[in-house]
Amino acid sequence: MPELVLVERDDPIAVVLLNRPKQLNALSDELMDELVGELQRLDRDEAIRCIVLGGSDRAFAAGADIGELAQSSAIELYYARRIERWDAIRGLWTPLVAAVSGYCLGGGCELAMSCDLIVASESARFGQPETSLGIIPGAGGTQRLTRAVGKALAMDVILSGRLLSADEALAAGLVARVVAREAWLEEAKRLAHDIAAKGPVATRLAKEAVDRAYESTLQLGLEYERRALYLAFASEDAKEGLTAFGEKRKPSFRGR
Ligand code: CAA
Repeated sequence: MPELVLVERDDPIAVVLLNRPKQLNALSDELMDELVGELQRLDRDEAIRCIVLGGSDRAFAAGADIGELAQSSAIELYYARRIERWDAIRGLWTPLVAAVSGYCLGGGCELAMSCDLIVASESARFGQPETSLGIIPGAGGTQRLTRAVGKALAMDVILSGRLLSADEALAAGLVARVVAREAWLEEAKRLAHDIAAKGPVATRLAKEAVDRAYESTLQLGLEYERRALYLAFASEDAKEGLTAFGEKRKPSFRGR
């Protein structure tokens, strides 16, 4: 059996690729178990400071595995806590860049939105087509898409099933960068190396602070940000970064 998830290290980054090409990377239970396991393993590895999560040229992922869904009962899905397993991705400390080419649909779009940011090929197509199947998004689609692009566009995408082009997704704030068809993975890796070169303590705190903006009120977010800044100041990384600037050299961060 080929591996469902391919992992390539290029310290300080790692690239994790979904590998069910014939099924357009449909997110079977087995694939999600492997994916969450690999991401958690990399997250515990201090040498890895940013992770890229991608699919293939044709598809990031075309959603949850419809065959599996069709054979499951509601109570089986409920007891298996399958979607709850996805929450582990949100809990990762290491910044996660989604590299999206081709179809990014249903659970695939939800997976991409669980990452910290999305780099998209101009070929990328984003959608939440679940209502065509008589179901609704279940891993954050109605919530994260609405927060990312606003109610009007989220309603359009979720209720009509229409797919957003990469440029529409960029204009709406769903993706951070759109690049040429052949450059999606290289650009995501380049971005991951840029992120990995920054102070690791500061990067984690900054990522958490941005998530606060997204998930809580402005007042709570501002308080969180200020405390996170003081914590960042207390790190060895801050001393190194501030000193290196004065000495006109590149900082050497240890993540301490
Ligand atoms: N699950 C299982 N298999 C899938 C799949 C999925 N989500 N998406 C595609 N495949 C399979 C197809 O069945 C097909 O397999 P066979 O060759 O064995 O027939 C293979 O991948 C290639 O797909 P197509 O022949 O359909 O390729 P296409 O280029 O004609 O169409 C597509 C591409 C528009 C993405 C189409 O495959 C499609 O509509 N897929 C389903 C998309 C979808 O509805 N996703 C939502 C799933 S539900 C969900 O995700 C719930 C949740 O929120 C958690």
